[in-house]
Amino acid sequence: MDSIRVTGGRPLDGTVSIQGSKNAALPMMAASLLHRGVSVLKGCPRIADVLCMEGILGEMGAVTWWEGHDLYLDCTKADKTEISEVYTGKMRSSVILLGAMLGRNKKGCLGYPGGCVIGKRPIDLHLLALRSLGARIEEGPFFLCASCRELKGSTISFPGKSVGATEQGILAAVLAKGETCLKNCAREPEIQWLCRYLRGMGAKISGEGGECIYITGVEELNGGNMQVPPDRIVAGTYLCACAATRGRITIENPPEGELDAFLEVYRKIGGQYKAKSGKLIADGSGVRFSLPYLETGVYPGFPTDLQSPMMAVLATIPGESHIREMIFEDRFKAAEQMNRMGAGIVTAGRDAFIHGGHPLLGCQVYAQELRGGAALILAALAAKGETEIHGYSYIRRGYERIGDDLRTLGAKCQPAF
Ligand code: EPZ
Repeated sequence: MDSIRVTGGRPLDGTVSIQGSKNAALPMMAASLLHRGVSVLKGCPRIADVLCMEGILGEMGAVTWWEGHDLYLDCTKADKTEISEVYTGKMRSSVILLGAMLGRNKKGCLGYPGGCVIGKRPIDLHLLALRSLGARIEEGPFFLCASCRELKGSTISFPGKSVGATEQGILAAVLAKGETCLKNCAREPEIQWLCRYLRGMGAKISGEGGECIYITGVEELNGGNMQVPPDRIVAGTYLCACAATRGRITIENPPEGELDAFLEVYRKIGGQYKAKSGKLIADGSGVRFSLPYLETGVYPGFPTDLQSPMMAVLATIPGESHIREMIFEDRFKAAEQMNRMGAGIVTAGRDAFIHGGHPLLGCQVYAQELRGGAALILAALAAKGETEIHGYSYIRRGYERIGDDLRTLGAKCQPAF
């Protein structure tokens, strides 16, 4: 049984520590390909997507092993330049390996990365980045190949912000000849962590977190060795669980300065929080204000990955709330499942209207993707009775121990395998 059973109705209470960031670890793993030796990611989350990326690197010839939560990657022999769609279809973020393969071997082929239930997820901006650096792209019926005699530094002007495409450009440019400037690049913390990791390997990068990133290509890179930062989306998810149950939680290792837009909304709905000796203490007991309008946006805006978890919170607050999803075209899948529990959510295109305060009753619900699945757990924590959330494997793609963590906070939940 791929499900988790949750009995709701208890305010969360306790202290929890946050796992390493999925969306920081994945590009750091790809960056490790750029060194023909051993790199280590400390405090790496043991989640399905990381294990999938580990499997791909192994297929390419890397030797990997774990020491606790430290992931070692020996990429001495990781010279295969083809990644089958078995992997890229399963985890679209593997597409950034194309830039790393180009940086390492001047060529790479991969099966087309799938879209997913939250949207089409095109890769045109990824290809623009690689073409700007001199790569030739061949789009075959089953494989996408990139090759070049030499990657040449250039200006990459993104017409729109994309986290993955920015990472793609960085991974290809660090070993290119000459200077590269990435304009209108994404500013997410995960991009900043990737740049720190690469700088630690000897890359010449500056400007991350701003509108332009500047890179001067180098001949080779040393092994990476960095602590994976705490996952800001997991932290936000647990803060939503605290709000949905009107509980009180302490986060041992909050992601510093990466949740400002989210915390601003947290306060607006009546949540309180304070930083104390490096911890974040949150009090959801005063959560009671609906949200007339919330719009997701690129960083530093409200993160799209916390849109569904926040929707679950708003479903528990009497009054009319409105969310507009500006990043992905189809990211309200969880609404339909919350309505099975009694929520009053109406969606239309990029808008969700939440008539909050309807009593939520436990029942059988079905996760269809990662963050929507996590949101169903939050709704279940606030519901009366027991909810069984099927598709728990979607949730485990990004949450290493959500069941254990919530039990630590006093929730009654049990994965049913
Ligand atoms: C990253 O996805 C994250 N994934 C996503 O987290 C996150 O939701 C997203 O950034 C936005 O913050 C990882 O880091 C592994 P984008 P990514 O390229 O890079 C369009 C999670 O739950 N676009 O910034 O795929 C795209 O369709 C996941 O952890 C193009 O048009 O996101 C979307 O509308 C879900 N052409 C928008 O840009 C392109 O070539 C933002 O996508 C690429 C993207």
